[in-house]
Amino acid sequence: MAPAKILLFGGTGPTGLLTLQGALEAGCEVIAYARNPGRFPESIRNDSRVMIVHGSLTDKDQLSHAVSLKPTVVISLLGPAAHEMVSWLSRPSNWSSSMFSDFYRILIPLMKEHDVRRIYAMGTTSICHEKDLASFSRWFTISCMWLMAHGAWNEMQKIAEFFEKTDKEEVEWTVFRLGGLYNQKKGEPEGNVNVGVVGTGGDTGWVKREEIAKWLVAQVTSRSQEWKGEMPYLWTAERSKTD
Ligand SMILES: NC(=O)c1ccc[n+]([C@@H]2O[C@H](COP(=O)([O-])OP(=O)(O)OC[C@H]3O[C@@H](n4cnc5c(N)ncnc54)[C@H](OP(=O)(O)O)[C@@H]3O)[C@@H](O)[C@H]2O)c1
Repeated sequence: MAPAKILLFGGTGPTGLLTLQGALEAGCEVIAYARNPGRFPESIRNDSRVMIVHGSLTDKDQLSHAVSLKPTVVISLLGPAAHEMVSWLSRPSNWSSSMFSDFYRILIPLMKEHDVRRIYAMGTTSICHEKDLASFSRWFTISCMWLMAHGAWNEMQKIAEFFEKTDKEEVEWTVFRLGGLYNQKKGEPEGNVNVGVVGTGGDTGWVKREEIAKWLVAQVTSRSQEWKGEMPYLWTAERSKTD
């Protein structure tokens, strides 16, 4: 099987960087689309296996250029950036934002145009799925998000609605849903993320960035079809014992 070529969005964030590094270690090439390429470490910027495309989420020409480079798969880790959270909480214009769902509305037709068929897009547990089980902690988290970060909550609903209307045979989409993110401690053994629905036994509501990256790279390199047209939930077991 030829090595995968990944078009990565959100690669400048910590999970994005881990995904990028993991992809390179697995022999993939990466097209990294970024609004702030200066946020990539120099080692990434100078790596010949990484092509950086500079553009915004609304720049159709640059997006078209990136998709025309024929990636085998698109990974999006786009979402409200941690360093911009204050504006997500406090700026009224963000409360009704649709910047990420609008971006997918531009991207997906471009993927169809260039015959790029596979995408993994980040979602959160603010997206409820019919297969999810009742969970008090998830209800509490969603209520807090709805009240305090309404724009971020709203974006997730719009992303879910958009993909639900996208024909999974035309564009093979997976929306992977995340709870709270945290980093693996130095020296801690690497684990595998749990993948399923919200509310099953052992669901901590938390997931390690390292495990998300590892799962994404494994999905891509194995050309997995397992979660096509689905919204799996990723979580790390037993956070309290490791944190
Ligand atoms: N922190 C949590 O507990 C949590 C929980 C659930 C989901 N998430 C989501 O999980 C993802 C990874 O989180 P993380 O903490 O590892 O990284 P992060 O710092 O939140 O990274 C967000 C990424 O999205 C990009 N981005 C955000 N808004 C953008 C915009 N308007 N235009 C272009 N790019 C934009 C950022 O680019 P710049 O570098 O240019 O800002 C960055 O690459 C994020 O989407 C985050 O929203 C986080």
